[in-house]
Amino acid sequence: MESMGSLRRSHYCNILNKNHIGEEVTLMGWVLRRRDHGGVIFIDLRDRWGITQVVFNPEINPEIHDKAHRLRSEWVLALRGRVQARPAGMINPKLATGAIEVMVGQLQILNQSRTPPFPLDEEVEISDNLRLKYRYLDLRRPTMANHLLLRHTACQTIRGYLNAADFLEIETPILTRSTPEGARDYLVPSRVNPGRFFALPQSPQLFKQLLMVAGMDRYYQIVRCFRDEDLRADRQPEFTQVDLELSFIDEEAVMEVTEGMMKALFTATLGRDLSPPFPRITYAETISRFGNDHPDTRFGLELVELTEVVRNCELQVFREVVEKGGMIKSINAKGCADFSRKDLDDLTAYVGEFGAKGLAWVKIKQDGQWQSPIAKFFTEEERQAIMATLKAEPADLLFFVADQPTVVHNALAELRLELARRRQLTSKDDFSFVWITDFPLLEYDQEAKRYVAVHHPFTAPNEEDLPQLDRAPGKIRSRAYDLVLNGTEIGGGSIRIHHKDLQEKIFAALEISPEEINDKFGFLVRALELGAPPHGGLALGLDRLMMIIAQRDSIRDVIAFPKTQKATCPLTEAPAPVARRQLTELKLRPDWQETS
Ligand code: AMO
Ligand code: AMP
Repeated sequence: MESMGSLRRSHYCNILNKNHIGEEVTLMGWVLRRRDHGGVIFIDLRDRWGITQVVFNPEINPEIHDKAHRLRSEWVLALRGRVQARPAGMINPKLATGAIEVMVGQLQILNQSRTPPFPLDEEVEISDNLRLKYRYLDLRRPTMANHLLLRHTACQTIRGYLNAADFLEIETPILTRSTPEGARDYLVPSRVNPGRFFALPQSPQLFKQLLMVAGMDRYYQIVRCFRDEDLRADRQPEFTQVDLELSFIDEEAVMEVTEGMMKALFTATLGRDLSPPFPRITYAETISRFGNDHPDTRFGLELVELTEVVRNCELQVFREVVEKGGMIKSINAKGCADFSRKDLDDLTAYVGEFGAKGLAWVKIKQDGQWQSPIAKFFTEEERQAIMATLKAEPADLLFFVADQPTVVHNALAELRLELARRRQLTSKDDFSFVWITDFPLLEYDQEAKRYVAVHHPFTAPNEEDLPQLDRAPGKIRSRAYDLVLNGTEIGGGSIRIHHKDLQEKIFAALEISPEEINDKFGFLVRALELGAPPHGGLALGLDRLMMIIAQRDSIRDVIAFPKTQKATCPLTEAPAPVARRQLTELKLRPDWQETS
């Protein structure tokens, strides 16, 4: 193999065009394709920036032409030659360099490559495991490389925006104590303190609050967070937050900063001009209209309540549900009366996965009459009332779920999304933001048999609702907010409690004992006694945001080295067994059975 010798790169592979014809240039890169046209050999040379066609002509330089015969996919080359116009008819208008080619006069093979385990020149379906095992090859593909570029642009834009708004970028510890985001912790044993463990941070929540107590006023960090939870397309065990905290502000200020950041981000990455402020809806409203707290607002199909309208109908399942304090809600699937029996059966089974015991439906015929197995249970008056409430017209398909509110909302939220998929109502090129506000502060945990914090225990309650703390803790609204984009929660935050007394009251409502408070959060409570300013903030899930900007379905596609669904890394084969000696050193004794 050769070194680059005297060759120094003069251009990247996306640069050369007609203006360079006649120039001597030096390019470096990988062999993407080789075409041997019985004599003349063409190579598409690829680097991070693009592709340039280079030519080896036996009549001009037989020695190098001979060498070019050996070249294979993904070999690494340095070459020097003269830029020339491509013959008419060979011009490729889709390629930045499509008007020219480089006639090679000097070739150095910098490295060879085995045949790659999968082709890199097209979007062929490759198993995720193989892609991750050879991630460095996967990342050579332009689409994937562009995701990293896009993410780089995003991070630089975010930093620029926040720096200009007087934020300080401050790092917080990775080896720390358990933080209260509610997932399982990743633990790291301490060798020098046997029997003690660090927890990797689920977020920098407590540290950023302490930075406010420290007078930093405005903090940000693009920071890795670790959560041992069940993984999905939009969840990784380690993921990145754009984490913010501000002093002397209210929720409006946090939202405004975030909206400004989104505007800058979408301009820089997609050339889109967003127009904040984004719409805001309360938690109660999103549940009522969309069934969940992360609504996809790119399309309608909203949920409509029919409990009162059908209260006295003859359909027993509906009446029983009403009598038991449940509800009936409906979606008008506009123009979907052409759904087949099988479609309806599939949708019934689908909502069943989310707890619905059935899915009643009505097709509105051209003459306005009902085609439905439940038609006979309703009087003409009831039918008219249902039609009016749902604004039903001929060719519409109405769906009904009767149950307790949680089941009705879960099932219809999922039905709504499924209908949108089937009718292709969304485009990845649409971006619909919405803020969700007024989350409940506490929710009852059936398993723990006590109230738990919906956001985290440092979230400030709505002062108006505070008197209800003893009587109806579940009814208190918090000063938390989430940012939702196209049905994905991309961020969340809150105004924090900055008075010790209030913090202790909330701990008491959460039935966290004084010992536990002291043990887990003693340092925060102490800081609240030492001049903590009013403060609040937010964290954005950068991976989720980038997934949506890159118009992908998984956050793995916008992370250079992500983990699999089972939290493993096929590339490094982490997590891996360790030597017994290492465990001994840590004073750890495994009690699982070691399998060969
Ligand atoms: P929260 O827990 O809502 O808030 O996290 C903020 C955002 O991080 C993203 N996110 C994830 N992304 C990928 N994989 C995961 N496993 C994952 N978990 C969360 C989501 C989420 O909206 N400390 C608070 C913020 C604050 O109060 O300021 C916090 O961490 O997009
Ligand atoms: P049944 O009386 O069980 O035959 O149900 C009559 C119709 O009502 C069927 O189309 C069922 O799918 C539907 N159905 C049954 N239970 C519910 C429910 N809880 N919510 C909505 N529809 C239901």
